[in-house]
Amino acid sequence: MIGAGAVADYHHVPGIHVDPRAELVAVCDPNEVLLEQRIGDWGVSRTTTEFQEIADADDIDAVIIATPNFTHRPITLACVAAGKHVMCEKPLGLSFEESAEMYRAARDADVRHMTAFTYRFAPSMRYLRYLLADGQLGVPRHFRSQRFLDLPETSWGWRQYKHLAGAGDLYDMTIHRIDFAQDLLGPIDSVCGAIAQFAPRTEVPGGGTCDPSDVDDWSALVGRFESGAVGIWEGSTLMKGHHNDGYGFEWAEINGSEKSAVYQLTDPNNILVGGHGESMQKVPVPSEFLVAPDSPRDPSQGVPSDVFRHDLVWEFVSSIVEGRDPVPSFRDGASAQAVADAVLASDAEGRWVDVSRALD
Ligand SMILES: NC(=O)c1ccc[n+]([C@@H]2O[C@H](COP(=O)([O-])OP(=O)(O)OC[C@H]3O[C@@H](n4cnc5c(N)ncnc54)[C@H](O)[C@@H]3O)[C@@H](O)[C@H]2O)c1
Repeated sequence: MIGAGAVADYHHVPGIHVDPRAELVAVCDPNEVLLEQRIGDWGVSRTTTEFQEIADADDIDAVIIATPNFTHRPITLACVAAGKHVMCEKPLGLSFEESAEMYRAARDADVRHMTAFTYRFAPSMRYLRYLLADGQLGVPRHFRSQRFLDLPETSWGWRQYKHLAGAGDLYDMTIHRIDFAQDLLGPIDSVCGAIAQFAPRTEVPGGGTCDPSDVDDWSALVGRFESGAVGIWEGSTLMKGHHNDGYGFEWAEINGSEKSAVYQLTDPNNILVGGHGESMQKVPVPSEFLVAPDSPRDPSQGVPSDVFRHDLVWEFVSSIVEGRDPVPSFRDGASAQAVADAVLASDAEGRWVDVSRALD
């Protein structure tokens, strides 16, 4: 585990503990106080502050990189060069160019490479993918995503600086929704995007001040899919009244020629479905979609909006055991980032922008 912060603790280490094929052997983080705490939290004895030590270790097969965005590229390239399989957090890089370089390096080294796009693993998202593939919604015509969180306006650390994070809400939140939209409806070809900054975030929680943020607090896009479908996305972490115990508000819908269907993060074991002339009805996600295929995780345990995040490790380890690319791969990570970068270009230039994602 490289990076021992919030997402490692919340998503990845519980995922490792669910998977009998995986063993957490070492943890890397420059924060020695945190490393000491993780020995107790995670039941791991081997720690280091240098990621190269993990890359060089012969008894480590695979790494999960959950560090600030600006470190993803150097850590991934070092681990891939040493033959490690890599799951890396999103956004893969600080730009499409970085993520494309990471994809090519992993592909050419013939290691497994996965981007941690969490929401693909929500049961309702799996079921929507099935309904679409089965033709039950008809021809998908339209996609809509809204993701609002009500987070504090105090400093967000590395996340609020372009040179460390790449972008704000767009790379942090909206990029997930770009990814699952492309998973469901295929590649996005062109976008008209907009971003805005709402708060300087100069107040540090616990006291003191810092340099003002230089990234977006709100990101939005209208997009055209290669299929001819259209989509609209909007996200922000500074929307008052959308706290909802930290889960915020999330809604994503597909409107097809036969039916419309809806995913909601706060109710991930149900979808809403409606046909022409009907009102949306709640439909439970069938049991075969509640966990990753063959995973031993018990879907009746834990908070539904949290526990599907433990399935990422199952997919990563399965891909290693089965010798195939994980889903989503670095290619998917780079593809989503190409769309996000087109949003930034569109906002800067005030026009529609074609998505440029040359990845071969
Ligand atoms: N997939 C998701 O749903 C999701 C959710 C939250 C965060 N994330 C992503 O996960 C990553 C980490 O986010 P977080 O919220 O855990 O951040 P965090 O700041 O809580 O943790 C990051 C950790 O990485 C450590 N670190 C910094 N440089 C390092 C280095 N060179 N080597 C090893 N460790 C290093 C830091 O000391 C810190 O402990 C980010 O890329 C973020 O975008 C993804």
